Amino acid sequence: MAKSALLKSSIAKKYWMALTGLFLCLFLTGHLLGNLQLIFSDAKHFNEYALFMTSNPAVKILSYLTYISILFHAIDGLMLAAQNKAARPVGYAKTNPSANSSFASRNMAVLGTVILIFIVTHMVNFWAKMHFDKNMPLAQQESMQMPGQMEFIGVPGSRVPSIPAQGKSLHEIVDEVNKQAMAQAQAMGEKNLEKAKKFEVEGSDAIKDLKKGEIIFKGYKDLYKITIDFFKQPKYGLLFTLLYAASMIVLAFHLLHGFQSAFQSLGVTSRKITPAIKFFGTAFAIVVPALFAAIPVYIHFFLK
Ligand code: HEM
Repeated sequence: MAKSALLKSSIAKKYWMALTGLFLCLFLTGHLLGNLQLIFSDAKHFNEYALFMTSNPAVKILSYLTYISILFHAIDGLMLAAQNKAARPVGYAKTNPSANSSFASRNMAVLGTVILIFIVTHMVNFWAKMHFDKNMPLAQQESMQMPGQMEFIGVPGSRVPSIPAQGKSLHEIVDEVNKQAMAQAQAMGEKNLEKAKKFEVEGSDAIKDLKKGEIIFKGYKDLYKITIDFFKQPKYGLLFTLLYAASMIVLAFHLLHGFQSAFQSLGVTSRKITPAIKFFGTAFAIVVPALFAAIPVYIHFFLK
């Protein structure tokens, strides 16, 4: 009874792992296509893409599904590995594992754990900066009106289309305007100087008019600069590039077994379809991580 419950739950776990795993393969494909713009496009288009990915409601739902899938896949996978270990017959260690299973299939939990560590540190370095860092830089371009001067570019729909940057951050510009307004108010005998403040920076990319209570300027977060600087930094750029490339080798082994195993867990097997799944799974497991690894390698060694 207890054994059949265990079996049932481990079948259910495998099923959910397969579904979440295949969903994560879709995420990887989309994420790769977006990131390849770092090689084949420019800062402007990459930052426009980053804004779309963080503000479009449908993409937001997909993002939440991705986070849930990562957690579910990782927790289920570790529980399954623990269950398998507990159920393993005593003599197992004496058999020759490499004779009847691949390196990847025997080490899925370890490979998955390395990928989880990669994802967490990766999200701290990029995703968390994009979403929560108050000092996230904003994209700039040379002003059409004042050649030689840089300006922050407003996103479509921004009430103020651009703001002169003059080598300052949005915070510094707003602070200066507020200081001037407060100094004027003080000269006129105003006691509550806080009330004289005109603007406030909201998040890291928008300026709010405090009197009207509305956003008058919203710029592009410069995710392109953050990503390029990360892999190009003089001290750790090479180390991060190598760590990323090594993580992609681990991802390749995980996908090599995981992709075809997912279809098996879902019961999608037949003499005709299984070889096709194996072929496509192997190609996916090699091409996707190789292209991911090419991004930091290109940025570090070749991007001028
Ligand atoms: C090696 C090349 C890669 C680069 C240059 C890269 C770059 C980025 C950047 C810039 C972000 C922030 C985007 C945002 O918040 O909108 C991001 C988010 C993310 N990355 Fe990557 N990434 C790479 C590989 C990977 C791999 C291999 C995985 C998974 C195994 C991964 C998983 C994620 C996840 C889960 C997020 C959060 C996505 C979301 O919020 O929807 N990344 N990545």
